[in-house]
Amino acid sequence: MASSFSSSSGFVLILGFVSVLFLQIIPSHSLTCSSQQFSGNRLYEYCNDLPQLSSYLHWTYDSSNSSLKIAFLASSTADGWVAWAINPQGPQMLGSQALIAFKLDGKFTVKTYNVSSYKFAVSKIDYEVWDMVAEYSEGMMKIFATIKLPSQMTTINQVWQVGTAVTNGFPNVHLMKPENMNSKGALDLLEGQTSSTTGGNDKLKKKNTHGILGAVSWGILFPVGVIIARYLRTFQSADPAWFYLHVSCQVSAYVVGVASWATGLKLGNESKGVVYSTHRNIGISLFCFATVQIFALFLRPKKDHKYRAYWNVYHHGMGYIIVILGIINVFQGLDILEPAQKWKKAYVLVLIVLGALALLLEAITWTVVLKRKSSKSTKPYDTNGRQ
Ligand SMILES: *[C@@H]1O[C@H](CO)[C@@H](O)[C@H](O)[C@H]1NC(C)=O
Ligand SMILES: *[C@@H]1O[C@H](CO)[C@@H](O)[C@H](O)[C@H]1NC(C)=O
Repeated sequence: MASSFSSSSGFVLILGFVSVLFLQIIPSHSLTCSSQQFSGNRLYEYCNDLPQLSSYLHWTYDSSNSSLKIAFLASSTADGWVAWAINPQGPQMLGSQALIAFKLDGKFTVKTYNVSSYKFAVSKIDYEVWDMVAEYSEGMMKIFATIKLPSQMTTINQVWQVGTAVTNGFPNVHLMKPENMNSKGALDLLEGQTSSTTGGNDKLKKKNTHGILGAVSWGILFPVGVIIARYLRTFQSADPAWFYLHVSCQVSAYVVGVASWATGLKLGNESKGVVYSTHRNIGISLFCFATVQIFALFLRPKKDHKYRAYWNVYHHGMGYIIVILGIINVFQGLDILEPAQKWKKAYVLVLIVLGALALLLEAITWTVVLKRKSSKSTKPYDTNGRQ
């Protein structure tokens, strides 16, 4: 009775821990840009909450023909103007190849400006631009456009601005508040990242969070927990410390693993039309197997119970399956996310270190076990006859 009580309260504790961790990892407020939608069925792959001037950039970069499709939104009055620019010279106003939207003759319009000096006028810009549309709704002025970039230009300096008035079709000087002066930054078109944005890229950030949690739990903590269980128990001095180490390692791995699983499911639901079924199915199996393993802890027969041997076979077998599937799925995930090559290399390095450690410990274990056997069998008058 007492033990079943402590088991169930232990499980409740784990569940509580899992849910606390959830709240920590999955931000309760979703970033603003991810909920924004556009007229005309316009969809973009990425969105960034820009750090200044209540502005947002949605974009899709097509690397096959180096075209950048954007939607830029900023809080503005209907009589003001908003601007978004690429500046090949640096994150600054001068040199900007700008798109500026404002109301002209009662209609919202976008014009291009080569901002080569503080006095600038409508002009051609360095890049070909098409599908330029301006819209205004709910306090936001929006610029839609597609820009043809030079093919080697995969990181751009973006500059954006908001002004309060337009005189005779010419945007008036903007305010000089800090937010007007700091509205600039880099945008990495291949990684989907902006620097100097506090919100960052929502989708990529979620993917990275999922990837890191998954690699740490399934790819590192679980194998380490198995290594602890398999090798530390050989040393009598490590008993029962190895057991508690093993349990805490696997329980933390499970907690982090469940978090990665949940973020993964969320990503899967959000991804439109793309299904990574192998990664997903392995992920779901991992979650089920690991949950069963955690439950099994509470169903473990006593050491001398006749079913304990079966339980051991099942527990160890399941453990190895989880480790193998976990490592496979980390590589699957790396192939999907395609982070910088160094991450894959780093993970391979971790595996090599763990593998080498396991080999070394395996050798030590065998030496210890064999020594123990031989020292027993050379005991004089060992009438027992059992090893
Ligand atoms: C680039 O490719 C996309 C998709 O194939 C297409 O929609 C777009 O019009 C192309 N842009 C250019 C500049 O050719
Ligand atoms: C923009 O202005 C700069 C400086 O005057 C000039 O060198 C450049 O050719 C201009 N770009 C275009 C497309 O006219």
